[in-house]
Amino acid sequence: MRQKIVAGNWKMNNTIEEGKKLTSEIVDMVNKEGVDDVKVIIAPPAPYLSTVVGLTDGANNVEVSAQNCNEHESGAYTGEVSVSMLNSIDVKYAIIGHSERREYFHETNEQLSKKVDALLKSGLTPIFCCGETLSTRENGNHFEYVSNQLSEGLFHLGEEDFKKVVIAYEPIWAIGTGVTASSEQAQEMHAVLRKHLSSKYGTEIANNTSILYGGSCKPDNAKELFACEDVDGGLIGGASLKAKDFVDIVKSF
Ligand code: PGA
Repeated sequence: MRQKIVAGNWKMNNTIEEGKKLTSEIVDMVNKEGVDDVKVIIAPPAPYLSTVVGLTDGANNVEVSAQNCNEHESGAYTGEVSVSMLNSIDVKYAIIGHSERREYFHETNEQLSKKVDALLKSGLTPIFCCGETLSTRENGNHFEYVSNQLSEGLFHLGEEDFKKVVIAYEPIWAIGTGVTASSEQAQEMHAVLRKHLSSKYGTEIANNTSILYGGSCKPDNAKELFACEDVDGGLIGGASLKAKDFVDIVKSF
């Protein structure tokens, strides 16, 4: 279902104490502001997931996401976290294919398609990331490149499964750089992606898919980005580490 979503990806930041404080502040502010029509998602590092699930339990509209998962069910994969482990601690979402995972851990669309399958099988929602490098954009191949990430990572899914997926468009040149895509650039890409989804799944399903924007999204630019017709929210990195900034972004809708 197309939903307004603001997800905070802490990446590899915060001690457990800092994480607990940040979570409690976010839950308090979200409860106080009554932003009922926006789903708020917190994605802490794996060791804190269980604690953050506990702290958000009963909070209105606040859910917890992993930053990654392994595609295998279980077994000899030292250091990895399986979907059934996430499921067993009540984590409902997982960010998949963040550009940092694609770049530093060489994750491919093929591998990501398996992670998506593993998540859906256990009833978790994948937040599937896509996005181009600056050179791909400068060469003019960005629409084709990002559309292809969706085709290879998601288009094996049947309609019912696809309906459960959330997409996050994150231009790599905008992540952590302070350079945000303009609202025109974001809207243009989101519209292209929605059209690409509709070519595979039809207009109704495409129009019901949440497509988030990520990349230097901050309280001062979120409003303009979220006002775009095809932008359904944000995946927030740096600005999700401060409760007030994060909740101000949530309130930008
Ligand atoms: P940023 O990160 O907001 O710090 O640019 C976004 C992301 O990587 O999800």
